[in-house]
Amino acid sequence: MQGLTFTLPFLALLSAVAVSVSALPQLERNIAYRSPSRIQFSRDLAHDVGHIGRNIRKRHLDEQRTLRIRARGKGGYNPADQLAADYDGEWGSDGKAAYRGKVSFPYNVASGDPYDDSAILWTHPVAAEETDKPICLRYQTSTKPDDWSAASVVDTNYAWTTSEVDYSFKVETTGLKPKTQYWYRFQACHDKSQVSQTGSFKTIPEADDAHVDKLRLAVFSCSNLPFGYFNAYQHASDREATDYAVHVGDYIYEARGDGVKVPGQNTYGNGTALNRVPRPNHEIVTLDDYRQRYASYREDKSLQALHASKAWFLVWDDHEVADNAYNHGTADGNNTASGEVEGVRFTERKLAAVKAYFEWMPIRQVDTTDSLRIWRQFHYGKLADLFLLDTRNFDRDITDVYWNTDAITAVSNDTARSLMGGKQEKWFYDNLIKSKQRGATWKIVGQQIIVNPTSYGQPTFPVNRDSWDGYNANRRRFFDTLTKNKIDDTILLAGDSHAAWVSDTIYEEYVNNTSAYDPESGRGSIAVEFAGTAVSSPSSYGQKLTPAQYTAAAAKLVSINPALKFADGQYRGYFELEVTKREANAYFYGIVNNTMPNSDEIVLASFNVKKGANKLTRPINGGQAPKGGALQSKVVDYAKQKWNGTAFA
Ligand SMILES: *[C@@H]1O[C@H](CO)[C@@H](O)[C@H](O)[C@H]1NC(C)=O
Ligand SMILES: *[C@@H]1O[C@H](CO)[C@@H](O)[C@H](O)[C@H]1NC(C)=O
Ligand SMILES: *[C@@H]1O[C@H](CO)[C@@H](O)[C@H](O)[C@H]1NC(C)=O
Ligand SMILES: *[C@@H]1O[C@H](CO)[C@@H](O)[C@H](O)[C@H]1NC(C)=O
Ligand SMILES: *[C@@H]1O[C@H](CO)[C@@H](O)[C@H](O)[C@H]1NC(C)=O
Ligand SMILES: *[C@@H]1O[C@H](CO)[C@@H](O)[C@H](O)[C@H]1NC(C)=O
Ligand SMILES: *[C@@H]1O[C@H](CO)[C@@H](O)[C@H](O)[C@H]1NC(C)=O
Repeated sequence: MQGLTFTLPFLALLSAVAVSVSALPQLERNIAYRSPSRIQFSRDLAHDVGHIGRNIRKRHLDEQRTLRIRARGKGGYNPADQLAADYDGEWGSDGKAAYRGKVSFPYNVASGDPYDDSAILWTHPVAAEETDKPICLRYQTSTKPDDWSAASVVDTNYAWTTSEVDYSFKVETTGLKPKTQYWYRFQACHDKSQVSQTGSFKTIPEADDAHVDKLRLAVFSCSNLPFGYFNAYQHASDREATDYAVHVGDYIYEARGDGVKVPGQNTYGNGTALNRVPRPNHEIVTLDDYRQRYASYREDKSLQALHASKAWFLVWDDHEVADNAYNHGTADGNNTASGEVEGVRFTERKLAAVKAYFEWMPIRQVDTTDSLRIWRQFHYGKLADLFLLDTRNFDRDITDVYWNTDAITAVSNDTARSLMGGKQEKWFYDNLIKSKQRGATWKIVGQQIIVNPTSYGQPTFPVNRDSWDGYNANRRRFFDTLTKNKIDDTILLAGDSHAAWVSDTIYEEYVNNTSAYDPESGRGSIAVEFAGTAVSSPSSYGQKLTPAQYTAAAAKLVSINPALKFADGQYRGYFELEVTKREANAYFYGIVNNTMPNSDEIVLASFNVKKGANKLTRPINGGQAPKGGALQSKVVDYAKQKWNGTAFA
């Protein structure tokens, strides 16, 4: 069962007018108007495009013409269709009915969710003068970087955007060739000299393409503006070999960012000194709040650079709504009167968060009948299937919200508990099996939280119940799908934790059973997990440790978690995953100093996985000492030793 029932009166612009009346095609082409779903399926999250179109006509179209066209329509035409077609031809593309002043593009451009023949293009124009008219933009997709002539432009059309979607402009460019690099830009319909920056992306191979032999993904999570520069994005943007960016969530954070604590609300960091306090400077709860927060993040130049240079695959985690979100609440809020934050209850807040996310992100709606669905997959030739899961907002049963940890521990084995919800679980397992059947080599599973059973090593908080460790039966159903169907070559991606974790992957009961899982050889492992550190969010090990203390803490973690081969809590950064037909390699990058822009990065360690092995290749990191963090060398019984704060003695 899906957790939310969309019954709140939300966007006041909805009206009772029949939705079958054609909307203006130039509004329909901007998919922000039907994001995340069409009006027929969710009155709370969608726009009535027909209604918006009628309002624009009422405000700006010659009334007499309307009547004339309507009269003409009596002879068998659908008057509304006739009106729309006529309006489009005469009033749309030349921008007569639209805004005719100056337009700027302060949020740059973005692309995402490429298929073999299409991709999503995004921008967000800003009008120089106040207007209630639509802004009309033409998009152009070209096979050459600086050539917008008819010979190179393979797809172009125009669309409108208005205040109803916060001036988001999101279109699908179509008719493209697979495995091809494209460039795109946006242009004011009424003035060709007003153009956006140029962006670029690659289409993916066709699903049955058996030739493609390389895919390189840069994987990010936990980008918290006040805590530091987004150097990670900049480095990946500059790397030619990187094909796509994947963000597994916590792209924004909901808290205020100037360090001031407000009772009952989240506070993370103080961005004042770095001039990185996001707008609005309070915990965000309304649609306008979330929109402003995205705008303020998207002013970051490194973030803009990566959005413009590569297509992204995005999924959300908790902070796109609020800390430790689950289906009916978050750590600081729920649907009761005492659970209001800034006077807003959870469901209303979640709707606002979801709406703003779809407006600002270059993602597809793969199921416009399901407002909350973001989980989806991509077939990258026969080389890989990329799954993007939502373990967070779609239908997660109650999570650890700090005051209920013991209760969550007590129910952590309940079979009824799910991270993903039954609908998504079924889809995931069915498609893992289909992936094997269609002969895709790698199953890359982009998701939010740490999958492996993981002890954090603190006596009072042995595991993080806000990860898969709070949903053991869901994890078992996933693992059983892999083992019972002999599905090989699964690679798990995770974020959320603000630290790096690289693991073989094992059932919980293998943890202390060396006949089931041998930590030294990896025998018994069923997959591999790469969990990346944060782009900027502070270390979960603590913020003020010395390098020696960070290394010691990492050494402790790899010693008490048999499947965990590498851990680091010192560096902010990201990792890249490169797969070929025969092997996968992951490179973990650490940013030297995130409090300065353009800081260098270092490769902390790299990891190899052979096709068919389902475990990390030994020796880990080629037997070299890592440049940060700790590798598991031999498993030591630390229970017999004393931890003195920095090391075992
Ligand atoms: C936030 O940082 C600024 C600049 O470093 C400092 O002046 C201010 O006192 C800090 N605020 C809090 C609440 O710590
Ligand atoms: C709702 O949230 C408030 C504030 O965090 C908390 O005190 C209360 O226990 C929560 N109620 C439920 C049913 O979760
Ligand atoms: C959950 O199941 C595991 C065995 O798989 C067991 O060791 C553990 O004690 C159980 N936890 C609870 C809270 O029942
Ligand atoms: C594994 O053994 C250690 C040390 O005896 C113990 O602390 C831990 O709880 C065990 N883990 C599991 C999952 O059984
Ligand atoms: C350890 O694993 C082996 C192999 O899977 C199994 O036969 C054995 O029963 C397990 N031992 C315990 C104590 O669970
Ligand atoms: C990081 O950069 C900041 C700003 O340039 C500087 O103040 C700080 O000392 C640097 N930290 C380290 C560890 O180098
Ligand atoms: C802890 O042990 C390490 C290694 O023996 C030593 O270098 C360090 O000084 C000790 N720390 C304390 C606080 O005793």
